[in-house]
Amino acid sequence: MKVLLPLLLAVWLSAPSGCTSLPPSCSEPPAKWCSSLESAARCGVLKQCLEADFRKTHQTADPVQVALYYESLCPGCRNFLAGMLFPTFVMLSDIMSVTLVPYGNAQEKPDGDNCIMNMTQMAFPIIFCMESSADVIGSAESCLKVYAPDLSIDKVMSCAKGDMGMQLMHQNAMMTKALKPPHEYVPWVTINGEHTDDLQDKAMSSLFTLVCSMYKGTKPPACGGTQKIHYKSYCTNE
Ligand SMILES: *[C@@H]1O[C@H](CO)[C@@H](O)[C@H](O)[C@H]1NC(C)=O
Repeated sequence: MKVLLPLLLAVWLSAPSGCTSLPPSCSEPPAKWCSSLESAARCGVLKQCLEADFRKTHQTADPVQVALYYESLCPGCRNFLAGMLFPTFVMLSDIMSVTLVPYGNAQEKPDGDNCIMNMTQMAFPIIFCMESSADVIGSAESCLKVYAPDLSIDKVMSCAKGDMGMQLMHQNAMMTKALKPPHEYVPWVTINGEHTDDLQDKAMSSLFTLVCSMYKGTKPPACGGTQKIHYKSYCTNE
């Protein structure tokens, strides 16, 4: 149930230099610009992609593993996922990994999140999109259209209602039951597999600060270190 988005989002924050509009040959979303040398060149971000990659290969420590046990309709869970976990991941994707474990507290109800995670690499943005909307279930179709246009809502629904959905939900139920200490509420956070009141409190109040402080490698610029960023690209009025 790992939601690892390797190069994804790495370039969200760097606009192509010059800020003229994108070349017509660049038809990928920003998250895909660095997916190959060819697309980087086509989109005019070769330099940015190479530098982002260079930084990544020089961060040798293990990423901080953040796992979230949650219910997709619980307000506190939605708040944490949409307001804290996802934004932190956008900023710190180089140094953290995220595992989402959606599971109902009481009984094993089918949950579309499981199927989405099983069916697309874009699960985290899609789940963020749903959890941050007014209508979690009702927004699924449009969130899929934005981030995974090839994945239809029908496919997700038939997974959620079928054997696969049950199986995935059951796996999450087992993972949740295996927690030590056992979870007492949701959202329940583990950091590198560990849960303490202190870690939970810190994750809830500033996950960003927690992940930066726990990362053992060279801190990325986003953590406020002194490392120079060479590829700032600003848009200016001509
Ligand atoms: C989807 O779930 C099935 C059943 O657990 C598993 O065998 C398969 O590897 C999963 N696929 C992905 C892409 O996670």
